Amino acid sequence: MIEQGLNTSILGKAQEKKLIGVKAINIRDYAYNKHKQVDDYPYGGGAGMVMQPEPIYEAYKGITEGLQKKPRVIYLTPQGKPFNQGMAKEFSKEEELIFLCGHYEGVDERVIDMIVTDEVSIGDYILTGGELAVMVMIDAISRLIPDVLSNETSAETETFDDNLLEYPQYTRPAVFMDHKVPEVLLSGHHKNIDTWRREQSLVRTYHKRPDLLETADLTEADRKFLDKYCKKT
Ligand code: 6GU
Repeated sequence: MIEQGLNTSILGKAQEKKLIGVKAINIRDYAYNKHKQVDDYPYGGGAGMVMQPEPIYEAYKGITEGLQKKPRVIYLTPQGKPFNQGMAKEFSKEEELIFLCGHYEGVDERVIDMIVTDEVSIGDYILTGGELAVMVMIDAISRLIPDVLSNETSAETETFDDNLLEYPQYTRPAVFMDHKVPEVLLSGHHKNIDTWRREQSLVRTYHKRPDLLETADLTEADRKFLDKYCKKT
C-alpha cells in the first residue's frame, strides 16, 4: 500500500531520480512464530489486540544494523504531537527516517520506549492504522527536499511559510461567466500586486484560520492593515 501509493506522480519521479527512497518493511516478515502472527491479547484484558515487541524490535535491528548514525524513529499515533509544516521542514533535513506504523489497538509500550524518538499524529481522528498517516507525512516531507519540486511547483512561497494562508490565484480567461479577475492582477504593477496579495493572505487567514494569526510572522504594515480591516468588518 505504501510503496504503491508513493510511486506515482511527483514522488514517483523523485524516487526514480534517487532524490528520495522509500522502503516499506512488513513486520510480519519478522514474526518469530510459525503462524506469522505479530499481535496478541492485551495483558489485563480488554478489547482488541496489541502488536508484540519482538518482531518490531527485530525489524528495527535489521534496518539499523551497521548504520553509523541511528535514524530518528517516528511512531505514528493519534497520541503524538500534531504534525505541521514546521515538523515537515525539520524532518526533511534528516538523511534517513524510520516510521513505525501502529495497527490494531496499539503497540507494546516497551518497544516504543526502546526505539521511538518522536510520536506524531496527523490530526484529531482515528485511522485504522498508521499507513495512510505515514504516506501523508512522507509526501509533506519529500516535497521540501531540494529538486523534488520543479520550478513550476516550487515550495518557495506558499501557505504556512509565515503561518499565513495563500492569496487567491487566477488564470485565463480574464472574464469567466461575468466574473472578472481582480483588476490589479492585470495592471502589470508588481508592487501593487504584491501588496494586494499580502492583504488577501491576511484577510483569508483572518476569516478562515484566525488561530494562525496568533503565531504568524506579521510586519508593522500587516498589523496596520488588519487593524483597519477588522474595524471595517
Ligand atoms: Cl499517526 N495513526 C492512526 N492510527 N490514527 C491517526 C493518526 C495516526 N493520526 C491521526 N489519527
